[in-house]
Amino acid sequence: MAKIPPGVGPRFPQVVVLFGATGDLARRKLLPGLYHLASAGFIPGYRIVGVSLDDLNADGFRDLAKASMAEFSSRKLVEADWQAFAAKLDYVPLGAGAATLKAAVERAEKELGVECRRLHYLSVPPSAALPAVRLIGEAQLVERSRIVMEKPFGTDLASAVSLNAKLHEVFAEDQIFRIDHFLGKEPAQNILAFRFANGLFEPIWNRNFIDHVQIDVPETLGLGKRSAFYEQTGAYRDMVVTHLFQILAFMAMEPPTALEPAPISEEKNKVFRSMLPIQPGDVVRGQYNGYRDEEGVDAESETETFIALKCFIDNWRWAGVPFFLRTGKRMAEGQRIISIAFREPPKSMFPPGSGVGAQGPDHLTFDLADASKMSLSFYGKRPGPGMRLDKLSLQFAMHDTGLAGEVLEAYERLILDAMRGDRTLFTTAEGIERLWQVSTHLLESPPPVRLYPAGSWGPKSIHQLIAPHAWRLPFERAWRNPNKLGG
Ligand code: BG6
Repeated sequence: MAKIPPGVGPRFPQVVVLFGATGDLARRKLLPGLYHLASAGFIPGYRIVGVSLDDLNADGFRDLAKASMAEFSSRKLVEADWQAFAAKLDYVPLGAGAATLKAAVERAEKELGVECRRLHYLSVPPSAALPAVRLIGEAQLVERSRIVMEKPFGTDLASAVSLNAKLHEVFAEDQIFRIDHFLGKEPAQNILAFRFANGLFEPIWNRNFIDHVQIDVPETLGLGKRSAFYEQTGAYRDMVVTHLFQILAFMAMEPPTALEPAPISEEKNKVFRSMLPIQPGDVVRGQYNGYRDEEGVDAESETETFIALKCFIDNWRWAGVPFFLRTGKRMAEGQRIISIAFREPPKSMFPPGSGVGAQGPDHLTFDLADASKMSLSFYGKRPGPGMRLDKLSLQFAMHDTGLAGEVLEAYERLILDAMRGDRTLFTTAEGIERLWQVSTHLLESPPPVRLYPAGSWGPKSIHQLIAPHAWRLPFERAWRNPNKLGG
């Protein structure tokens, strides 16, 4: 295993108190992520105390963690590493109360034997966040601690403001890490590298050259056991006001004065401040057929499982450039792309029928999968007589570099950053509150949900929303397969 360079891990051993330890996110991402960080040597000293409503003991929690790893981890479980990890797990049922939780954390710290830090991870729905914060206060576990808050942070402006105020009664702002795992994705950070480490694209990164932008995250996934959470949340709160807007900020922000938390947050917040309020008329809400029959879902549910919208950033760089965002469950394909459409040339000397412009404008496309890809498409001449044009592309795939194995999964990266106290990739209270503010009109007067067939691209009206442009997805041509010769 590659040696972890010094300074990458946290300075102090960590006691992780994982609230929502038996929930979907913990099983899919957090437990496998902590296991990887531990077994790869990123966090030398640690203990993990799981907390949830389930009445388990430590062994029961270990079984659940192992089963989660088998089901969801992309990496192979090594038995010796697992044994070492399992020995560090403990569990406290929520009902056992503050004193029991305090005792478990103190026991873990005693085992570690040196000065430790505490990382409280709240992997719980918005309604359970404050009770967990109060419990931490009551158990006197605030000292030497940081707290990671999952999204959505509140459910609207008023609840986010009130959550921030109540949170500050227990934690200082510099202890609070509001997580948005899309910012931990390697390709999201690569947007910053791509834009600001190169002289080629930044000069054309504005309204004079860019026609429109799409951020498109269709998922084939349904809701599994999450319908109770999702019924209260819906696609807008689950994905747009969180992940998609955060990605939009990386794509749209001005160059920060330094690659540090304060300058980056400031530039992102300026984007959010410049956003025009979302107009309900610029939004398509959808619900897949069959959602209302699912367990835990109201038979007349108006919760959207799909959303597409148009929004604007009203500043010098972006005034008048539409940003189209789309995401939904049970759609035709699972993709995560940002697609930038460049303006077309003002005049064409190419003869009719040559094919110029026939396949849409030139595009720069980022694929936000963990092993990222990028493509720049353009018109070029088809070989042979005459002048026929075809859409061609330059493509990059992380797989080509042989470094794809080095990629840290988004949650792994962010948990490690929180343990180190590095908030560069975390969101701020100001930014979140502003995003709720631009959402107020939509949340108060949402357009009706329109049904769409599972396995489709959403309700028909998505085409009107984007006209005269067209959705980039589904792609006309698949990404080139780098492993296939001539592919
Ligand atoms: C989560 C949402 O935050 O992000 C889920 O709650 C969604 O509904 C998930 O499926 C998508 O994340 P990823 O990393 O799989 O693209």
